[in-house]
Amino acid sequence: MTGGRSLEDLETPAVLVDLDILERNIARMAESARSCGVRLRPHAKTHKVPEIGRMQLSAGAAGLSLAKTGEAEVFAQAGFTDIFLAYPVVGAEKARRLLALSDRVRLAVGADSEEGARSLAEVFRAAGRSLDVLLKIDSGFHRAGVPPERAVEMARRFSSMPGLRLRGVFTHAGHAYHAETPEAVANAGRAEGETLACAAAAVRAAGLPVEEVSVGSTPTARHAMAAAGVTECWPGNYVYHDASQVALGTCRVEDCALTVLATVVSVPERGRAVVDAGSKTLSSDPLRPRPGGHGFLLGRKSRLARLSEEHGVIAVEEGEEFRVGEKVRILPNHACVVSNLHDRIHALRGSRVEAELAVAARGRVR
Ligand SMILES: Cc1ncc(COP(=O)(O)O)c(C=O)c1O
Repeated sequence: MTGGRSLEDLETPAVLVDLDILERNIARMAESARSCGVRLRPHAKTHKVPEIGRMQLSAGAAGLSLAKTGEAEVFAQAGFTDIFLAYPVVGAEKARRLLALSDRVRLAVGADSEEGARSLAEVFRAAGRSLDVLLKIDSGFHRAGVPPERAVEMARRFSSMPGLRLRGVFTHAGHAYHAETPEAVANAGRAEGETLACAAAAVRAAGLPVEEVSVGSTPTARHAMAAAGVTECWPGNYVYHDASQVALGTCRVEDCALTVLATVVSVPERGRAVVDAGSKTLSSDPLRPRPGGHGFLLGRKSRLARLSEEHGVIAVEEGEEFRVGEKVRILPNHACVVSNLHDRIHALRGSRVEAELAVAARGRVR
């Protein structure tokens, strides 16, 4: 639906996306990938908006990554034909949905266990088909993924399962979000790329083909994709950026495309103002790498100091003032979670609302 309204006319709270910044972020990451000779496969779980996915493809992305089967169903329905589910998908029910998806999509999924992989393989084998998998390697985040030294053993298991085809290896350096300095982020990125390239080399040395060596997180992307042997990168957050990326040194406030427009609804005393955006609008995700409130206010020094469900409390800095009825723009700590909380985003050109876009894959957690 197209708009043309002014920002001032929007009811709050409302999620705003600045199209000039969004386009610039998409172009810059596409250029970084091109200059490293690496395919870009952006993680669309950040925005969950098919129109933004199309912008990423137009800028040169080879396909999209998503996390959940339900998200892939929404994007397939919207016409996307090359999707990687960067998640250890497990279970026959999911496998049946993946089988249906694979009729119209070049599909791959993540796997890091024999049981999980088998639960998918059996359904595909019974249908006389085969599913591409990427083996997830833990490059230091210590969430999902096998340690690099187990890559060969697990790759062998996957390769021996009828109904599966090992397409490659992948990793996500989520620990970079806890790195306290830009140098530490860069080191985590280099290690992410090198660890994965090494694991791929070991799997190849064992006689198994590895087509894709896939890394991805926004803070580490530029460093990880520069490592020799990496073929693909799948950062997500970079389209929007957020307060955490600013705090990590990944970008500047001017590079943040997503903000939340809120109204000051109470100024009960000096030093405290309350807006109509709480945890149900902004999420409770902490600022990273170090906790520090619940969002920056554009053009102000004051920050959102605490949240309850419907209230955001601003600790008003000396020399600043807020009045009831005034609108503020909040740069949230974590844009990806904010997307998932809202049905639609308002796409801005300057201060005009150019379009309202449905966050079509929000809430698709199954
Ligand atoms: C497994 C996985 N891969 C890739 C990403 C994308 O990382 P980022 O949003 O830092 O670009 C995420 C984000 O949480 C993730 O969990």
